[in-house]
Amino acid sequence: MDLSNAEIPNIFNFATEQARTIVYLQYINLVICLGFALVVAGLLTYAVINFRHRPGDGEPVQYEGNTKLEITWTVIPALIFLFLGIATGVVMYQVNPPVGKRQPDVIVSGHQFWWEYRYPKSGVVTANELYLPEGADLMLEIRGADVIHSFWVPAFGEKMDAIPGHPNDLFLKPIRKGFFIGQCSEYCGSQHSLMRILANVVSQKDFDTWAQSQAKVPSPPTEKTALHGRELFMSKTCVQCHSIAGTCATARVAPDLTHISDRKTIGSGVIANNLDNLTKWIMDPQDFKPGCLMPNMRLTESEAHDIAVYLENLK
Ligand code: CUA
Repeated sequence: MDLSNAEIPNIFNFATEQARTIVYLQYINLVICLGFALVVAGLLTYAVINFRHRPGDGEPVQYEGNTKLEITWTVIPALIFLFLGIATGVVMYQVNPPVGKRQPDVIVSGHQFWWEYRYPKSGVVTANELYLPEGADLMLEIRGADVIHSFWVPAFGEKMDAIPGHPNDLFLKPIRKGFFIGQCSEYCGSQHSLMRILANVVSQKDFDTWAQSQAKVPSPPTEKTALHGRELFMSKTCVQCHSIAGTCATARVAPDLTHISDRKTIGSGVIANNLDNLTKWIMDPQDFKPGCLMPNMRLTESEAHDIAVYLENLK
């Protein structure tokens, strides 16, 4: 899958207000620690060179119980720790403010091995490709559907665990547009490394357009191949896991396929989304993502093709 238009993940190249706050704290930490390391290393070098053993030297003068010195080297580090502790506390509060009665803007669910995104305010449900509006104050609720996953887009700052039965909140205020890559960062099974997050930050206007098109219930197919594809989709086991708005397919085990044609990738970022790849994926998902939960359904190539035509034409 070609992700060349995505930014190289880099925590210092932040894309949210929260990530910026965390990185700035990190810089303060780094400068203080580096300064201290230089002072300690400098004094040590000075002492080693100036007070080294010379021929004819006897025992050096022994120091013991210098109260002033002891107070100095206790108080200075204590003040630094206190400062860093307070600064960290302030940043933690800014990044993770109290939730109160606030409702999430996006409900993110980690599944083996893909991500579901629900936008409760617009009713949009999608998978793997996240859209967020630039400049908005967002709260994401991170859930785990089966095992513990972890939602992590380096440019967004915090890593947030997706724990079954214990939703966590992640606050994001995107400060610039872009296409950012993330990754599940809690080992969750054989396809953990291919559980990608493809996050798009777009303008509020583009986001509204996207949400509107996603909320649309696709019209039923009229063309022969697509009609046959729908018949196969509804009669084979597809409906037991997937859902498509406006049809009797309502299962929530696997990705919602209502607007699969709008997605760039299949299989959580594994391959590009096109008719050919989708046909091959339907025939044998294990070929692309060994160990993923969608089995090889032993469909013929023409059956898989017709289903792919049906899915790619849902608009
Ligand atoms: Cu999901 Cu690792």
